[in-house]
Amino acid sequence: MRKKIVAANWKMNLDLQEGTTLVNELLKNAPALSPERQVVIAPPFVHIAQTAGQLAATAHIATGAQNCHHEGAGAYTGEISAKMLKSAGVQYVIIGHSERRQYCAETSEMLAKKTDQALSNGMQVIFCCGEPLEIRDADTQNAYVQQQLEEGIFHLDGSQLSNVVIAYEPIWAIGTGRTASSAQAQDMHAHIRAVIAGKYGADAAENMTILYGGSCKPSNAAELFACADVDGGLIGGASLKADEFLGIVTAMTNS
Ligand code: PGA
Repeated sequence: MRKKIVAANWKMNLDLQEGTTLVNELLKNAPALSPERQVVIAPPFVHIAQTAGQLAATAHIATGAQNCHHEGAGAYTGEISAKMLKSAGVQYVIIGHSERRQYCAETSEMLAKKTDQALSNGMQVIFCCGEPLEIRDADTQNAYVQQQLEEGIFHLDGSQLSNVVIAYEPIWAIGTGRTASSAQAQDMHAHIRAVIAGKYGADAAENMTILYGGSCKPSNAAELFACADVDGGLIGGASLKADEFLGIVTAMTNS
């Protein structure tokens, strides 16, 4: 049975004290989760050791990172390696978020290398894909997302792929309040699953967790997570308040 996941992407929000408080609130109020359900908290890098310490005794809430560098070590001032993240207690690394593709000029080639770094250091990858508005308007989103997957993760073998989660995040829905409809999300998730099946076979596709991201909130999470191919969410804005995030976690536990 494939895992259902709700992952918090705090982006560049919350200082260390605020983040510590939020994690404590989540720990206090999170519902019990069955083994095939997982919550991930991806704070900024400077929180990670603290967050991982707070979450150490709670297996169903994992610590994530929002990025890692594409090389293993060396003269890359200001960068963070996958090995460092692993040693600080990180279990999941978000790779290929559209904000990093856009503002940090991350190319598919870099994303493929980042994926390798995270996997070879024993972490799971949350690989992000999703189209900009002009691609959606031209109705070419399926080919666009397929190419992102081919370039980012299709060099992996089947056993490596089993440590990858895909997050579909249409750029026009991120932070805009404009959520994809559940039909739009389901259509794309089914397409992504078919693309995985075409390359890796039906079992790999069936076991692949595919998250939706983009203005997911407690009010729309249940409908999105009820879609056959939507296995949870990657949550930005609504992950910054305990009650909103826990509302989404509850929708996942009931899905
Ligand atoms: P949002 O962000 O929930 O604020 O739209 C989602 C994301 O970018 O991961």
